[in-house]
Amino acid sequence: MIKQAIIPLAGLGTRLLPLTSVFPKELLPINGKPGIEYILDECIEAGIKEVVFIISKKKEMIKRYFYNDKFYKNIIKKKKDPRIIKEYQKILKYKKMIKFVYQNKPLGTGDAVLRTKKYIKNKFFLMLLPDDLIIKNNCSKTMIKVHQKYNSSVMASMHVNRKSVSRWGIYKLGKKLNKNNYVIKDVIEKPSISKAPSNKAVIGRYILPKKIFSKLLNQKPGKGGEVHITDAIQSFIQNDEKFIAHNFTGKYLDCGSMDGYIKSTLEIAKL
Ligand code: G1P
Repeated sequence: MIKQAIIPLAGLGTRLLPLTSVFPKELLPINGKPGIEYILDECIEAGIKEVVFIISKKKEMIKRYFYNDKFYKNIIKKKKDPRIIKEYQKILKYKKMIKFVYQNKPLGTGDAVLRTKKYIKNKFFLMLLPDDLIIKNNCSKTMIKVHQKYNSSVMASMHVNRKSVSRWGIYKLGKKLNKNNYVIKDVIEKPSISKAPSNKAVIGRYILPKKIFSKLLNQKPGKGGEVHITDAIQSFIQNDEKFIAHNFTGKYLDCGSMDGYIKSTLEIAKL
């Protein structure tokens, strides 16, 4: 069973400047609710019991958001506002599930994953990238079902415009398992148009095997000098480890860019 999830949160959020110059992007409200809470709710609904946050010293405000008990208790003592009591109970529920680890230098997603090694207990775990919101369908929940059926690693996938392939991890399709699931042959981090094996991109939901940690220990930095999870996955695939691409059915929102962040608010307000 997949009971643990990890969420890399140490990124600087430069695409959302100036909003992120003092404020962590994951706490920015999307229709009145911090982005990170959408991700946590997706996890809870998918049956996740423990979440490891990878933060940095610069993003300790995220920890404070969940550890502000004194503040809530004082307010609740003074005025027994049912709305505040309910919000505090929600925060407490999240807090119980979250563990924190630190990645103080932005060395890439692969490096972020490695930081969680001591906490991961089961053979497989889930990773969610908080910039990628998927609404109208719980992508994690569906991916866990796919994982259970094939006993394999899974990544969320989406068709993208050929012109934008260098923004994503792009994979080569292998055997079709059924309507929405394919075996992945190769995956390349942010290829040029001429090197991209398809228009199929990896989106920020991954079910990864615990074994990935041993790969990551020896993983050399790739594009932009960062250690990419995509490169570790590629070397796994080359060693005959099965990875499935799951074409999710929800709506994808890139809330890590200004344009996407604004669109996310509008789309979620319509729900
Ligand atoms: C990361 C991954 C990339 C993936 C993307 C999905 O890139 O490295 O393979 O396609 O997330 O959002 P980033 O958004 O951190 O540049």
